[in-house]
Amino acid sequence: MQQEQREIVEAFYDGFQQKLIKDYLLGNPRIVAAIQFMQEHIRPNCASILDIGCGLGWSTYEFARFFSRATVLGVDISSGLAGMAAHLFSRPNLDYRKVDVTSESFSFDQPFDAITLIDVYEHIPISERVNFHQHLYRLLSDSGQLLIATPTPLHQQWLREHAPEGLQPVDEDVTLEDMQALAHALDGQLTVFKNISIWNTNDYFHALIERQPVYQVIEGHRPGRLTPKIWRLGRTLRRLPWRNNPIFELDTLKYFLKTFFSTK
Ligand SMILES: C[S@@+](CC[C@H](N)C(=O)[O-])C[C@H]1O[C@@H](n2cnc3c(N)ncnc32)[C@H](O)[C@@H]1O
Repeated sequence: MQQEQREIVEAFYDGFQQKLIKDYLLGNPRIVAAIQFMQEHIRPNCASILDIGCGLGWSTYEFARFFSRATVLGVDISSGLAGMAAHLFSRPNLDYRKVDVTSESFSFDQPFDAITLIDVYEHIPISERVNFHQHLYRLLSDSGQLLIATPTPLHQQWLREHAPEGLQPVDEDVTLEDMQALAHALDGQLTVFKNISIWNTNDYFHALIERQPVYQVIEGHRPGRLTPKIWRLGRTLRRLPWRNNPIFELDTLKYFLKTFFSTK
């Protein structure tokens, strides 16, 4: 990404904190579904996970809890978000870094067994995809898994027509063909591709690309329960200054109380 575009993108996501804190407090069903899909498909013996575009770090934290023997790294272009993630969520097997994944400096010494992108792939400019795929190629271990959750073109089209204010600085369409091309670029196979319905029919899809798909008996590896709502409330009350905490906005508080007894 050119420096000018990077600055626009970074500034936009630095201003995204309140939205992501609200998502965490209220249990945004898009993020819950994506975390559960990934927990279900990442192999239990996975030793390292890279959560790209980790935002506030909620997904990164849940992966670090669920795969407690893995080391988990969350990266994000926004220093504000990476800093807030480290402030809210710490665990011995969890770390965060500020990184633009389209830049040349996006590289680590060790490859990862699982790389996750929750609502991030659509924010990589199409012009950067070849470059980004080359980074992913190097960063994925020989038996690595890449897991993606992203809006469908149906949802993107709806946003463009009815709620353009919901679009982010880079917001591309991502299709089944794009996932097949990505699998090819990584010497992998697209082993899962499914549309899911979060708020509207077929508004998101989940995809899994694997370098060495395994065929084996499923042994009770099921998604774990996410951090319960009351703990999420406790965490933001303990670690955020009151004036920055969206729980004190009337609408958020009302919604929180209304959904308090839901499991998510
Ligand atoms: C829609 S948010 C999703 C955040 C989080 N994964 C979630 O689902 O709540 C997109 C995230 O991708 C990050 N992002 C966008 N472009 C990026 C880039 N080039 N490099 C690293 N992170 C990027 C943003 O800062 C933001 O946190």
